[in-house]
Amino acid sequence: MLGNFIYSNPTKLYFGDEAQKHLSDALGGFGKKVLLIYGGGSIKQNGVYDDVIEALTTAGKEIVELPGVMSNPTLDKLDEGRRIARENDVDFILAVGGGSTIDYAKAVSVSAWYDGDAWRNFWVNQNNPAADARIIPVGAVLTMAGTGSEMNGGSVITNRAENMKIGKVFGENVMPKFAVLNPRYTFSLPRRQMIAGIFDTMSHIMEQYFSGDDDCTSDYLAEGLMRSVIASSRAAVKNPEDYEARSNLMWSSTWALNTLLKAGKTQDWMVHMIGHAISACTDATHGMTLSGISVAYYRHIMPGCPARFARFAKVVWDVCPDGRSDEEIASEGLDALGAWIREIGAASEITSLGVTSDMLDKIADATIILPGGYRRLSHDDIVDILRESL
Ligand code: NZQ
Ligand code: ZN
Repeated sequence: MLGNFIYSNPTKLYFGDEAQKHLSDALGGFGKKVLLIYGGGSIKQNGVYDDVIEALTTAGKEIVELPGVMSNPTLDKLDEGRRIARENDVDFILAVGGGSTIDYAKAVSVSAWYDGDAWRNFWVNQNNPAADARIIPVGAVLTMAGTGSEMNGGSVITNRAENMKIGKVFGENVMPKFAVLNPRYTFSLPRRQMIAGIFDTMSHIMEQYFSGDDDCTSDYLAEGLMRSVIASSRAAVKNPEDYEARSNLMWSSTWALNTLLKAGKTQDWMVHMIGHAISACTDATHGMTLSGISVAYYRHIMPGCPARFARFAKVVWDVCPDGRSDEEIASEGLDALGAWIREIGAASEITSLGVTSDMLDKIADATIILPGGYRRLSHDDIVDILRESL
């Protein structure tokens, strides 16, 4: 554990198949007027909306509704949310949905009372709100496991006009004050979204795992979480109403990206940068963009640290190392990752997501290039990875 860090996470979690019973108490201290943000309407079909309205009513809240948050929430939608939050002078924002809804709620929370160009300041230039900025507190009721947005400061916004999808990780003052995690709420998810969330979780862990080569507790935690995600994914794909599997997936996805695993580590995140660029150009489902490129990406960076990839193969995929080099073991581990992607039905290529060969340059242009875990990619590397993923 060679890195220095401060660890704190302010989000209070209510977990389990009766978690919603705590919602009215959780809302208690946060003022009278609540902006209720949700997506395209699934919560009205699966009963979650009714549970939430009951809790808000019990807590004596005045409700302002803001529906219609789309997957990959856009800047135009953010403008609408800022206006509604401000005009109604809301005291609190309750986000009910998946990562898109919760990310969007955080974006509204920091932007509503900010008078400048929020997109440029927070997302493009990655600034934080001023110390005395007015930030509307957010709470979350999670209906889809995957992003970890319920317990982190991440907020990913898409600017369609500029073909840019950018994530900003805000600090503790923007992270949800609480999150209600009822695994049963995820039962109504379409199968494809469940699988996208599973791969998103796995990818968050890998983005933090494939970086650094010291002996670090965070990597052992990551390996345990990956094994749990793989085991639970198999059970959930067989029976989506397997509560044990869905509850493990929900808990794993929260811990995969709630600031724990990155402690003491450098990180990679290039799969996400390329995935975001694919979504910016196609509006493809986040988790599927990641599964579509991961194997090609990891084959590119594996020579930067074969020992870490061999460890991944042995510990996560039970690859037998006998008499073979790290590169050979590592390669078998990446084969196993690819086989699992196909087994659970995640996208194993990007053609099915709407990517065509004439778009590769544009996607590479839209990719934010970070230092990377084991290698800094060039524009041409990204085009190669995309081409190998078609
Ligand atoms: O719009 P509704 O009706 O809610 O339907 C959603 C949506 O169509 C549906 N859904 C969610 N819960 C459901 C349900 N349908 C039936 N029953 C339920 N219980 O599923 C669809 C996808 O929802 P969405 O919120 O878009 O998915 P996800 O949770 O994967 O969020 C994706 C967004 O999060 C960002 C992504 O880039 C993307 O914009 N991310 C946020 C991160 C963060 N905050 O740290 C990190 C991630 O890497 C990611 O980038
Ligand atoms: Zn993700």
